This record gives sequence, C-alpha cells and structure tokens, in this order.
Amino acid sequence: MDYAAHFSSYLSQLKTEGRYRYFVDLERAVGQFPKAFWRPTPDAAAREVTVWCSNDYLGLGQHPEVLAAMHQALDQYGAGAGGTRNISGNTHEHVLLEQDLAAFHKKPAALVFGSGYLANQTALASLGKLLPGCIFFSDADNHASIIEGLRHSGCEKRIFRHNDVQHLEELLQATPAGAPKVIVFESVYSMGGAVAPIREICTLAELYGALTYIDEVHAVGLYGPTGAGVAEREGLAHRITFINATMGKAFGLMGGYIAGPRDMVDAIRSAAPGFIFTTALPPVLCAGARVSMKLIQAGQALRETLYKHVALAKKSLTDAGFPVLEGDTHIVPLMVNEATRCRQISNWLLHNQNIYVQPINYPTVPRGTERLRLTPSPLHTPAHIANLVQALEAAWVCDDLSVAA
Ligand SMILES: Cc1ncc(COP(=O)(O)O)c(C=O)c1O
Repeated sequence: MDYAAHFSSYLSQLKTEGRYRYFVDLERAVGQFPKAFWRPTPDAAAREVTVWCSNDYLGLGQHPEVLAAMHQALDQYGAGAGGTRNISGNTHEHVLLEQDLAAFHKKPAALVFGSGYLANQTALASLGKLLPGCIFFSDADNHASIIEGLRHSGCEKRIFRHNDVQHLEELLQATPAGAPKVIVFESVYSMGGAVAPIREICTLAELYGALTYIDEVHAVGLYGPTGAGVAEREGLAHRITFINATMGKAFGLMGGYIAGPRDMVDAIRSAAPGFIFTTALPPVLCAGARVSMKLIQAGQALRETLYKHVALAKKSLTDAGFPVLEGDTHIVPLMVNEATRCRQISNWLLHNQNIYVQPINYPTVPRGTERLRLTPSPLHTPAHIANLVQALEAAWVCDDLSVAA
C-alpha cells in the first residue's frame, strides 16, 4: 500500500468537503475574556479578537479566586498527582473534590475522571459490563463519548429518536421486562441547544425498571438554583441514577465526573479501565474546581447576567434576519447549512472583523446543518453583541469571502 498517498488523499477529501479541521492559534489573557489574541501564523504578531465560541461559559477559567486557589495548590502540592488514583495519585484534593461534587448533586458518591469524555466513555462501558445482559436506550443525538462508551460496553443498544419519549416507550415495551436497562441522554444538547424531557424519561424509567444516566455537561453551572444543572432546576435530580458532567466548561478548567448511588459508583471505580489505568488529574486542577464549584453554587447573579446576554444576542440576531435555531438555552446556533460557506464565513470574520467563532461541520452535526455555534457569556457586553451582529451582516452580504492564506 502507498501509505503516504492514502493519508494525503484522505486529507484532500476533507478539504474538498470543507470539513478539514483548522485550529486557531489563540492566546487567552487573564482579565480580558471574551477578548483573546490570535496569530494567523506562529511567527505573526498577535491580534486581539473577540471569542464567541468558548465553552468557558461563565468566564470562571480566569476568575481571581479560582486562580488564587490554583496558585496556592501548585506551590503546596507541585505539578502533577504523581500516579494513578490507585497507585499514589489519590491526593487529598481528589478526596475533597469528590465529596463536594457528591454534595453539589445531592448524590451519595462522585467519581472524578480525566475529562467529561473519559467519564462517559469508561463509566458507560463499565456499567454495561457490570450488568450482564444490559440493554442501553440512547438518544439519537447523544455525544460521541456516549456512543463510544456504549460501543465498548459490548451491550445491545436501542436508539430512540431525539427527545422522542413515545419512541423510547415503544422500544422499552419491546424489551424483556427482566432485562437490565439504562436510558442514556443529555439534558442540554450541545449543538442545537434542545433540552431533554427529563420528567417523562424518568417516569418511563421507573415504569420499565431502567436506570437513568444524564449528561449535564452543557448544563452544570448554568441552570438550577445552585447551578447543578437542568435536573436540579426541574426538581428531578433525585429521580436520576447517574449525573455526568465536566469541569471543562462552566467550571472553566478540565476533568469530568459522575455522581450517583454509592455502590454503583464504587463498582465503576473498581472496574473502569479509563479510571484505573491513567494518571490522576493534577491536584491543582481539583483545587481550582472546588473553588469554581463554590462560585457556581453562589452564582445566580452570574447566571442571570448570562441569560440576559443570551436573550439580547438571540433577539438582535433574529431582528436582523439571521436564521437562529430556536431554543431555551445559552447555545445560539446560527444556521449556515453548507460546509464550505460555513468555514468561509468563520474565516472571513476572523481575518476581517476580529471575531472568532468556529464553524461546526460534519460529523459534529449532520451534513447540510452546518452552523456557527455562538455562546454568549456574562462577560459579552451589549456592545460586543452589537459588534457581532454588524460583523455578521457584513459577512452575509459579502460577495467574496476569500481571505489571504
Ligand atoms: C455532551 C457532551 N458530553 C461530554 C463531553 C466531553 O466533555 P469534556 O470536554 O470534559 O471531555 C462533551 C464535550 O464537548 C459534550 O459536548
């Protein structure tokens, strides 16, 4: 085989389809969010841009109290954890963080992983292995980490149409009553901003004897009186078996976790390869995450500002005639529906308007539904929003979206 030609042709294909992944060389600067600095090439001078696609939803990744805790932890504990959780890497910061996370979600136990992706992938795979004959019921729009977890579980799975509880019930009905079942879904779907019918799903789970596993990765920090997610907001967290989330988005850091019943979490801790055979998160991250969580718990004012800015962004874009996907969350998908144009608009905005919003193309979203996924934050002011709308108006009517390479 001509390996070089094979890979080169794969990459050419991605470029032809407009879905080759170009990474933007950014430098974040403490105190300046949502501004950051962008270099068109590694040697070029940095240019100030406004970031419109960050998942540091509340700007906590630069919060002085988070940074102070991390500085202190770095000086106190050093750089890394020094091992896997099993072998020398289980530091006091991990123990405290898991206690705090369990209390945050009002669950008996929590377990921390290297990322939200890893938490889903390895917890779900292990859950399936721990429950012989288990059948997973998975929403059609679930994240890649969930899909990978179910695949690695080796279990049967039934995919229900996105947020369609009637379809879910049909699938549950057609399954042997005694089989172990787990319903896996997200509370806020990250690319379209749809919210799951959590109450109806819990009712079906109770009726058909299924466990529930909810991914609140895009909801924790942002919804609920203490920011514990949509399940908390709806008063349903106690009806959910496992809550999964990340410390990489609203927390502003990195790492993932599950919270749930003690023995089930303990069994996953004992069985999950993606937990056992990997170096523990650095204690400095755990220390930052604990402070972030406290700010989130007391962060209703921050959430109110976020909702206000999101509403203003949606209204300003809709009033200006932009095709914004309707929804009740902080995610603002601006539909372009064509891969090459989506990439070109994003590129043009970056080069000509100092606006950074990453194009979202296949396979993250289905072909023909390519979009710019805007994420206003409490730190995006009305002036930033007005500037975004103006920049988009200029892009939308521009005949030639090409930019210098
Ligand atoms: C729904 C969902 N679950 C899980 C993850 C993974 O989280 P993390 O970024 O912490 O790996 C993501 C990442 O974007 C996500 O969108």
